[in-house]
This record gives sequence, C-alpha cells and structure tokens, in this order.
Amino acid sequence: MSPTKVIIVGCGIAGPVLALLLKQKGYEPVIYERGKRDAGGGLSLMLQLNGLRVLSKIPGLVEKLSGMPIDKSTMFSIVPSDERLLVELEFPEQVRQHYGVGLMGVQRSKFLALLVDTVIEHGIELHFERQVVDVETTDEYARVKLNTGETDTASFVVGCDGLHSNVRTALFGMQQATFTGLTQTGGITEGVFSNEKPTMFNFYGLNMHCIAYAISKTQYSWAITQRESETKETWRAMDEAAQHSVRNGPFSQLPSGVGDLVLKSAQITKYGLYDRPKLESWHRGRVILIGDAAHATSPHLGQGANQAFEDADYLVQLLVKHRPNASQESTTAEFSAWFKEFEEARIERTAMLVRGARETGETRVVDGLEEARKRNDAVCAQWAEGGSALRRMQDLYNSK
Ligand SMILES: Cc1cc2nc3c(=O)[nH]c(=O)nc-3n(C[C@H](O)[C@H](O)[C@H](O)COP(=O)(O)OP(=O)(O)OC[C@H]3O[C@@H](n4cnc5c(N)ncnc54)[C@H](O)[C@@H]3O)c2cc1C
Ligand SMILES: *[C@@H]1O[C@H](CO)[C@@H](O)[C@H](O)[C@H]1NC(C)=O
Repeated sequence: MSPTKVIIVGCGIAGPVLALLLKQKGYEPVIYERGKRDAGGGLSLMLQLNGLRVLSKIPGLVEKLSGMPIDKSTMFSIVPSDERLLVELEFPEQVRQHYGVGLMGVQRSKFLALLVDTVIEHGIELHFERQVVDVETTDEYARVKLNTGETDTASFVVGCDGLHSNVRTALFGMQQATFTGLTQTGGITEGVFSNEKPTMFNFYGLNMHCIAYAISKTQYSWAITQRESETKETWRAMDEAAQHSVRNGPFSQLPSGVGDLVLKSAQITKYGLYDRPKLESWHRGRVILIGDAAHATSPHLGQGANQAFEDADYLVQLLVKHRPNASQESTTAEFSAWFKEFEEARIERTAMLVRGARETGETRVVDGLEEARKRNDAVCAQWAEGGSALRRMQDLYNSK
C-alpha cells in the first residue's frame, strides 16, 4: 500500500509546515502554489512561543531561523504632551530561558525561503505557478482543478491558500474579506536602535500606533497603523514617489526613534488590514481549511502565523490519533468526523483571537488628546500583573 496522498493548496506560511509535519508521519503531501518561487513581498512576522513550539517538531528548523530572538517588550506613549514610558517587560527573555524558545522576529521572505528549501530537502512534491481554481469532494476522493486545466486527486485536500482562499470559496461560496478600517505603512530599517537587547517596541501616538521589532542583528521591522480608506494588500513596496512623500511626511518627525525608522527605511510598503467573519465549519467531506483561509485576522496580536502553525500541528495530531497507519484507507465519513473534531478545538480559540486583534487595533488608533491619554492608562493597566493583555498572552503560551 502506498502512503496517503494529501493535496495542500498554498505554499505560504501554513502550507509548508503542514507538509513537513505530515511527511514525518508517513503521509505523501503534494503542494500547489499560485506564485513563483522566491516571489518575495511582505515585511516580517513575530514568531511566538506557541508557534515556535510547533516549528520545533521539525528537526533542525528552528536552529536555521535567521531571525532575532527578542529580549524585551517596551511600550511608549509618543502622544504630544503625554510622552512617557508605559510598560517595560522582560518576559520574552524569561520565556526563552525557560522554554528554549520565546519570541523571534523574522523577515517573511527569508523565513518562507527556509520553509521551501526544507520542504524540497524532505523530498516533498511542490509545484509553483499552479493555482487551484476548484475543489471537489466525493465518496471516494478529493480532487483539485488547476488554472492550467490539469486535475489532481488525493485522499484529502487542505486549503492553506490565505486571505482570498479559492478553496474557501469552492466550499462555502464567494465572500469578500472585511476591511478593518486600518492600514499599515511599514518597512525594514537598519541602525536606529541598538541591538544590545533586541526589543519589541510599541509606540502609542495620536491617531497612530507604531510597532517595531528586531529581525536581525542590524535590522528592525516597523509598521505604523492608522485609520484610513481602503488600500489593498499587495505586499509590494509603494512606488518611489509615494515612498518619498512618506519619508518626507509627518511620520518622519515622530519622536523616540520612530521618525528615523521611517526616514531611513530601505523600502516602504503599505497595505490594508483585513479579517474575516467566523465560519461555523471549515470543512466539507474530504476538504478542510486551515490558517488564514479559515480564520484570517488583523495583525495586532501577532497571532496569524502562530495560529496557522497550531492548526497544522493539531490536524496532524488528530490524524495520527485516529489512523496511526498512514497508509490505511479511510472513508469520507471518517475524514469528515475528524475534521469536525478539529473544528471543535480550533474555531472558538481562533475566533476569540480574531476578535481580540480587532479590538486591540481599535484601541491603538484613537484621536484626541483626552482619548489618547485614557488609552495610554489603559495600556498600562492591561499589561500590569493580572491585566487582560498579560493574561491573554499567558493563556496562549500555557495552553497546548
Ligand atoms: C506575499 C505575502 C506577504 C505577506 N506579508 C506579511 C507581513 O509582512 N506581515 C504579516 O503579518 N502578514 C503577512 N502576510 C500574511 C501572513 O503570511 C498570514 O497572515 C499568516 O502567516 C497565515 O499564513 P497562511 O499560510 O494561512 O496564509 P499566507 O501566508 O497568505 O499564504 C497563502 C499562500 O497561498 C497561495 N495561494 C493563494 N491562493 C491560491 C490558490 N488558489 N492556489 C494555490 N496557491 C494559492 C498564496 O500565494 C500564498 O503563498 C503575507 C502574505 C502574503 C501572501
Ligand atoms: C497499513 O494499512 C495498509 C492498507 O490498509 C496495509 O496494507 C498495511 O499492512 C498496514 N500496515 C500496518 C503496519 O498495519
């Protein structure tokens, strides 16, 4: 008997990690990715303890990450007339000392290149420039249709195809992603903050918020959130003229190093922030969604990629539990039952984080001095002992 073949749609963040975990357990994953290899684009991701724990299950991967372990989390108010240190936390370093991994900023394109190399090293079939345009699930098999007219068949299909998932549309119909009303303008800058203690900074301003964290010995990735009209997420740098006007605009005058991040940024990218309403189910028959395809989120809790890893890990755990022999035949009803069990563990948790990220974004970008001062005080309280943000993070890191 040959191992169970699984088609994975999308080689972004979730797809290759799922493929590697499945391969370890004796499955035969095949990945189809719409884009070209090394297409680049995007800025960075914050890998957190819950995500790094999953990556640690792939031998040798964490050691090869080219990101920067974070030691400190520092929050400042840069609101005029209320400039102050709000919160200073040493937990990232403590978490790392305790668990071996903690928080790590990575440049997305480098991280993705490592995942792709690892997938290929493990002999996993990976096809670029193949877009899945439709999916079918029957009593016997699941089948994808590609933009080239070809089809491919497997025991089951996992949609890891992100915010505008075609697999999701095939299962549940077309539905636009929800623009959250916020955009981010960001880049990667060298030489503004010393890297003696690699830090995650949050700068709370008037009508804006800036996050910045170390992604290498010399680079900080930064992103300014503001309330604006809709801007699509192409994940590409703005044109030169637009970059020039950001570098010469009001952001470049901001205090505490934020202005310098903007001024000295190699390239500047701007993108709208989207999420999606909660689905009641993520599967039909032999097809299931994970990652952004299932639960796209705005980035304010830094959990998008980390939840995608949790999904991949838990899905593989369930499969191993129910069919320890990876070559065994299983019926559509069986797959469907396991996928339902997966949803029972995952839908509420991810929906809570999507809501939490929305709310966090809303409080980050407030207008008016009075409101901004109140927000600053709230941030202090949320991160104090017993505060809501601290507790949420502890829950995330403590639960399996
Ligand atoms: C180019 C790019 C840059 C990004 N940059 C950032 C960033 O800087 N910061 C941040 O917080 N988040 C970024 N994101 C989003 C982030 O990667 C995800 O929110 C998160 O990590 C969850 O990963 P995912 O694998 O579910 O989705 P994604 O990482 O979005 O991956 C989905 C993959 O599926 C592919 N795909 C889509 N449709 C099809 C199809 N029909 N057939 C085959 N393949 C398909 C896409 O090309 C993509 O590679 C970016 C996403 C992309 C695609
Ligand atoms: C696994 O399942 C296949 C197909 O049903 C069977 O041929 C094989 O003997 C099984 N292997 C073990 C170790 O049970």
